[in-house]
Amino acid sequence: MHCVRGPQAAVDTDLLVVPWFEEDAPGAIPGLDQASGGEITRALASKEFAAKPYDFFITPFADRSWRPRRLALIGAGRFAEYDSAVVRKIAAASGLAARERHIDRVAFVLRGRADVAGHAQAAAEGLTLSEFNVGIYKTDEPAPGAPPAWTIVMAEDSPDALPRVSQAVARGRVLGECSNLARELANEPGNALTPREFARRATEMTAEGGVKVEILDETRIAELGMGLLMGVARGSSEPPRLMVFRHDPPGAPASPVLGLVGKGVTFDTGGISIKAAVGMERMKDDMAGGAAVAAAMRAISLLGAPVRVVGVVPATENMPGGRAIKPGDILKSAAGKTVEVIDTDAEGRLILGDGLWYARELGATHLVDVATLTGACVVALGKTTSGLFGTPPDWVDQVRRVADRAGDRVWPMPIFDDYREQLKSEIADLTNTGGRPGGSITAEIFLKEFAGGLPWAHLDIAGTAWAEEAKPFLPKGPSGVAVRTLAELAFTSQQWNSKGES
Ligand code: BES
Ligand code: MN
Ligand code: ZN
Repeated sequence: MHCVRGPQAAVDTDLLVVPWFEEDAPGAIPGLDQASGGEITRALASKEFAAKPYDFFITPFADRSWRPRRLALIGAGRFAEYDSAVVRKIAAASGLAARERHIDRVAFVLRGRADVAGHAQAAAEGLTLSEFNVGIYKTDEPAPGAPPAWTIVMAEDSPDALPRVSQAVARGRVLGECSNLARELANEPGNALTPREFARRATEMTAEGGVKVEILDETRIAELGMGLLMGVARGSSEPPRLMVFRHDPPGAPASPVLGLVGKGVTFDTGGISIKAAVGMERMKDDMAGGAAVAAAMRAISLLGAPVRVVGVVPATENMPGGRAIKPGDILKSAAGKTVEVIDTDAEGRLILGDGLWYARELGATHLVDVATLTGACVVALGKTTSGLFGTPPDWVDQVRRVADRAGDRVWPMPIFDDYREQLKSEIADLTNTGGRPGGSITAEIFLKEFAGGLPWAHLDIAGTAWAEEAKPFLPKGPSGVAVRTLAELAFTSQQWNSKGES
């Protein structure tokens, strides 16, 4: 993937993709309509192409003095709403459309003069995201061919310098690739991606990027007193793993230390509180938060974030079995708190409780955890928006701003102390469920008990980790949500002033 400065007529490519606004006149881009032999005028007049988001219109160049072989217009909506989030999506949609047509070389044109580098990065992310293949186990269809060679074209008269924009493209490429690596992991079925295999693949992925990795086995996990993680793992014949990633850039200050924690349940049957059969296959992606943390660690290291980061991913299956935990069982967390297990299907918060504790042990000063945690969050916010929780508000706002920029839609949810009483246990410090009311909130209230008063934010990606319906910019399957947010967050430490609760 590379970046060139216009003119568009000189770009050596098979398909020149031009974002087109609803208010654009046929002559909006000098020379383009003539070069297409008037096809733009015709398609707009006949309404064959209306420039609504993701509308796609292809025509050959009639003018042979233009080097691109064909022109594609991609609907970009209204100019006033055009920002890097739109660029990312229309670039992804263009990439998917080009791949469907088996086009070898695609050039994507940047429009507008504002935030050129931001748009270039987003375009690189979108095009890269379009490379993901979901059907990797299909044997009866030819494997999808190599993705097109991508070029990003900046305007000839752009106010920005080519090296700066090229650098943004390279950054977007890394973030897109890391998102796709997380998607590959989430796509793997539970029989292929056991906790041990997850740890092996995450090690490969992060070590290659320069991250220091340590994998703790069941003996070490038990020695550390992680009774919550050990408890969830008891029902399975597959042993649990705890992945620890470290990014220690030379010369980085001792503090702050960003602590990223991801839920790594490689399959969630619910355990003894077993789930209904319908749709249970989806629970192979219950490690999407852990995959996001591993992939973000790779991006953080490759892009050289100027801050220390630790990543912690507890990985286990949640299975019923003769040795599985039962409702009513009491588990002791590494932090010392005791938990009465009311529902063995509320396992994510259990393993994250020990994970958050370990991130603090490793020196984290600011925490973010990511998890496919609650069905209630899907009910509250649907399939496109992740729930954002945490404290104090300035840390949560920081995560929110970064997520907006990274194209991961999030929305803040309340965590008032009032909800705490729903987790009261007669016999232990707290229960692991708080009933149906506010089901996503009580899960976070549980996690907050393990954040030790540090600035802490939680992303509930239960609705967003997996696309159940194909969109023009995102096929069915794993979305790679949160990878870019976590990675970009590591570049904003100048803005972290919160110290948590006293
Ligand atoms: N992994 C699930 C949450 C989930 C649900 C993710 C739907 C993606 C789609 C989690 O472990 C779970 O089972 N949560 C329970 C909690 C309940 C028992 C308190 C839930 O949401 O039903
Ligand atoms: Mn569960
Ligand atoms: Zn789960």
